[in-house]
Amino acid sequence: MPKIVTLPGDGIGPEVTAAAVEVLREVAPDVTIEEHAIGGGAYEDHADPFPQRTRDALKDADAALLGTVGGAHDSAWNKLPRHLRPESGLLALRRELGCYANLRPVRVLPGLEHLSPLKAEIARGVDILIVRELLGGIYFDQDRRINGDTAYNTMRYTTPEVERVAKVAFWAAEQRRGRVTSVDKANVLEVSELWRRDVQALRDRDYRSIHLNHEYVDSVAMLVVANPSRYDVILTENLFGDILSDLAAVIPGSLGVMPSASLGDGAGLFEPIHGSAPDIAGQGVANPAAAILSAGMLLRHGLKRPDAANHVDRAVAIALREHPTRDLGGKADTRTFTHAVLEALGTP
Ligand code: NAI
Ligand code: MG
Repeated sequence: MPKIVTLPGDGIGPEVTAAAVEVLREVAPDVTIEEHAIGGGAYEDHADPFPQRTRDALKDADAALLGTVGGAHDSAWNKLPRHLRPESGLLALRRELGCYANLRPVRVLPGLEHLSPLKAEIARGVDILIVRELLGGIYFDQDRRINGDTAYNTMRYTTPEVERVAKVAFWAAEQRRGRVTSVDKANVLEVSELWRRDVQALRDRDYRSIHLNHEYVDSVAMLVVANPSRYDVILTENLFGDILSDLAAVIPGSLGVMPSASLGDGAGLFEPIHGSAPDIAGQGVANPAAAILSAGMLLRHGLKRPDAANHVDRAVAIALREHPTRDLGGKADTRTFTHAVLEALGTP
């Protein structure tokens, strides 16, 4: 029986995670769900934002569903030494799971074009999946230094690192529209030359049905907002992916509908991209769509149950249209929205 660890965390985390768990129980009743502590609450109760008991529970888990961590900007947690703050718990969690591929879908769901800052005819139907390498490149390389008026960092990738994340992108494209755009800066960077060569070789060897093209990151930064519909899967390295995924996040227009997944060799980590929203926490009005869609990604990528995942995606789209939450200009609270999703799941 698959086992999922839920980590509700702080602020609206427990509210939106509870909604996602209700949905999971409905579509995957055979799955064992175990709740554990992380973040500021975990520090209060266990003097550690990533307690040993949580760490142990993840060892035999098939996937982890995270809520959010962190307090208000004036929270006492922010005055703690850095390693005891809520965010340290989250970083330790990501390291522990060894998740090297970060997946961020950028979708404008039908009927929600008006939320996008882009023109409706450009936003309509956008459905991109950004696959970002998460454990390598310039953020992690230890060959780094600042000394007087000189500083350097090193961008380094190896073929195995490129191949393992590229496989995730090709695999995802096979479930989608079969197109991968690999993003690099091969006209000036040797690392990008290797990246491009290895991604192309992998495609030619094992993924002949995928249409692969290569584009430069500066050009993609313009095209992804000017003409987002030209993309299916975007595959890129850590630094470029960090910037492009935040840029693309403006397209749907609301944080409350954006899920994410981080995949590695072990259990994957699934979480909404929004924070703990202290301004609305405890009021029962948070939009649980991002958390529920993250549970959908867990079904798709963590448990390899694409039918259940599609079922959840469809139900969320219906609920968003019929019972929009306050962040989307509607009136539905967390309860009403969750009910609407459960109801839509029940109707074939
Ligand atoms: P935030 O994402 O929590 O909130 C930004 C704005 O969006 C707020 O007005 C909030 O009410 C609204 N919002 C966010 N999610 C919503 C939802 N599901 N439904 C309705 N409205 C929603 O970002 P902020 O305020 O910068 O950070 C608050 C705390 O969250 C901080 O402690 C921060 O460190 C933490 N944080 C945690 C993250 C995580 O756990 N992965 C990610 C980002 C921030
Ligand atoms: Mg970032």
